Amino acid sequence: MTELLRVEHLVKHFPLHRGMFGRDTAVVHAVDGVSFELRSGETMALVGESGCGKSTVGRLVLRLLDATSGKVWFGGEDLMSLPPQAMRAKRRELQMIFQDPYSSLNPRMTVEQTLVEPLGLHGLARGRHRERAAELMDLVGLAPEYLQRYPHEFSGGQRQRIGIARALAVEPRLIVCDEPVSALDVSIQAQIVNLLQDLQRRLGLAYIFIAHDLAVVKHIASHVAVMYLGHIVEYADKRSLFASPRHPYTQALLSAIPIPEPRQRRERILLQGDVPNPIDPPSGCRFRTRCPYARERCAQEVPALRPLGGHATACHFWEEIAPPAGVAAEGRAVNERLARLQDAFRTRGVPPPQPSPGRGGTREADEVEKV
Ligand SMILES: Nc1ncnc2c1ncn2[C@@H]1O[C@H](COP(=O)(O)OP(=O)(O)O)[C@@H](O)[C@H]1O
Ligand code: SF4
Ligand SMILES: [Mg+2]
Repeated sequence: MTELLRVEHLVKHFPLHRGMFGRDTAVVHAVDGVSFELRSGETMALVGESGCGKSTVGRLVLRLLDATSGKVWFGGEDLMSLPPQAMRAKRRELQMIFQDPYSSLNPRMTVEQTLVEPLGLHGLARGRHRERAAELMDLVGLAPEYLQRYPHEFSGGQRQRIGIARALAVEPRLIVCDEPVSALDVSIQAQIVNLLQDLQRRLGLAYIFIAHDLAVVKHIASHVAVMYLGHIVEYADKRSLFASPRHPYTQALLSAIPIPEPRQRRERILLQGDVPNPIDPPSGCRFRTRCPYARERCAQEVPALRPLGGHATACHFWEEIAPPAGVAAEGRAVNERLARLQDAFRTRGVPPPQPSPGRGGTREADEVEKV
């Protein structure tokens, strides 16, 4: 597989106009030196608490936001130096899907209009828009008969399928999935994760999958980058990250996954305090105000993201910190639960979920029963 995306030292500082005469008096350090690579057909998960900069990274990669500094290479091309018109054309290859498809779908447009609009914008499938819209419905497991319906006539999971179909309309190579299952019931989450994986296999797509739920990430990711206050604090392939989490923050995130097996026990790591204000992040290691292992050096020196055998960690003392009991085992239990759910969906055959007309949106439970 060839490298598709390379992100180098990406920085985004949002200036705040708070002083007299509208001068910038402070900046939000949303993203501070983020680097990673992604190959075609792979998924990189970006994980961390709310406000740590995940969505900003996604929007910077698509150049929906201008970076303060850093580079984004896509297919060997420097996206930052593309003129606006060339970038608009390039965006066909880089799409985004969102947590709440309802807010990203126009409530006054039918599904067909929603799917045909990007085809028109990019001059695709000329003379066969209707057929292409039907193909896209089929691709995401929805019946083409529902092309004339409006978003409110579908359940949350079905609306997410429409959001995915719209992103696929322009035949992208990379999709930034910004918390695409966070608002959905857990069984519907499994269906959408399944669908995304199936589409990846069929179309060779690459994903940046943004989430705070490590259970979902474990299933879909090839690699995982854990973010804290604008920095990547740990980066590894999925297996390595779940089997031996090295950064205290990753260990805490993993320990927060509930265990479905009552016989298993895991030590829950409770982080002290709130995430610090990104306007004035702590000196040295940004995690030090909540880290149970912090010491003097942590306040003075920013820990570099040091790679060791393909597993990179930004902590001065990670070699001394053993993962707490049960952290790695938990990840496996949660994954088994997801795997069981997905097997159940696969073995029952998958007729497309049916919208219920006149009910102002179906309940998620209806969708589970039918699929
Ligand atoms: N347009 C903006 N102006 C000012 N601050 C912003 C803007 N967008 C995001 N931020 C801030 O940047 C930080 C990272 O935000 P975001 O990328 O949305 O985090 P996440 O997706 O991880 O929840 C947060 O502190 C957020 O308040
Ligand atoms: S560098 Fe220090 S504060 Fe930061 S994670 Fe490591 S031990 Fe904790
Ligand atoms: Mg976000």
